Amino acid sequence: MSTDTHAPFDKKPESPRSTGELIRLEQVTKRFGNHTVLDHLDFSVDAGKHVTLIGPSGSGKTTILRLLMTLLKPDEGTITVDGERLFPAPEKQVREVRKKIGMVFQQFNLFPNMTVLRNITEAPVTVLGLSKDAAEERARELLEMVGLTDHVDKHPAQLSGGQQQRVAIARALAMRPQVLLLDEVTSALDPELVAGVLDVLRDIARSTDITMLCVTHEMNFARDISDQVLMFDSGRVIEAGPPEKIFSEPEHDRTREFLSAVL
Ligand SMILES: Nc1ncnc2c1ncn2[C@@H]1O[C@H](COP(=O)(O)OP(=O)(O)OP(=O)(O)O)[C@@H](O)[C@H]1O
Ligand SMILES: [Mg+2]
Repeated sequence: MSTDTHAPFDKKPESPRSTGELIRLEQVTKRFGNHTVLDHLDFSVDAGKHVTLIGPSGSGKTTILRLLMTLLKPDEGTITVDGERLFPAPEKQVREVRKKIGMVFQQFNLFPNMTVLRNITEAPVTVLGLSKDAAEERARELLEMVGLTDHVDKHPAQLSGGQQQRVAIARALAMRPQVLLLDEVTSALDPELVAGVLDVLRDIARSTDITMLCVTHEMNFARDISDQVLMFDSGRVIEAGPPEKIFSEPEHDRTREFLSAVL
């Protein structure tokens, strides 16, 4: 049992982490008007694994993450997180299950009127009911991990894009989610800032047991951190496997075409 209750991650969780399937989508259909983006999609992510979604623009990758964040609702199907229904489910249950999921967006989405520290402590205090002191202690540890200890009192506009994105990563982790959703988190950054953010994510992938579901066009990063890569096209998983298989010996023409365009 861990005694370090303020550790930024549950490296040694007080209660055993879930094993087996952490996320499960069954027969999920999502339409926008008469455009069916996801068509009876089945897929699952096992606890502790790092799964990367790749595929062409418009294939539905972000839609999957938005469904998991409950920013969208499926038209059909079920979504289960850690054995509990996220959809369909009563509102109270949705709020509870949602706490298991953290997300980092392409556009950071920090609160512009709050300091870096407050950006990170706000939700742990208001949603999890942590004391201000405990939330700040955890926030400072997370800021150290993402290399931003000198910036705690700044506002987002005073930071570079890469720094803002590292704050956003710390903010997501402050809620101690079981799964971290990452949607092209480096694609809005200037090229010289990308490596720093990817290094932070590599470090998280290596040093924690957090489950990651990641959409990225950074294929080297995907190859490094992924246990499994899912090739997505037109709302379906057309090929799945370990990165060495998908990147070196893809089976589908569509995967080969896609990779030759992005690699
Ligand atoms: N709110 C919305 N209203 C209408 N159509 C939408 C909406 N959100 C997404 N779509 C459509 O759904 C499809 C899938 O979008 P999604 O954002 O999931 O794609 P993606 O795989 O993330 O693409 P990209 O790689 O460009 O980010 C696209 O055709 C998009 O235009
Ligand atoms: Mg997208």
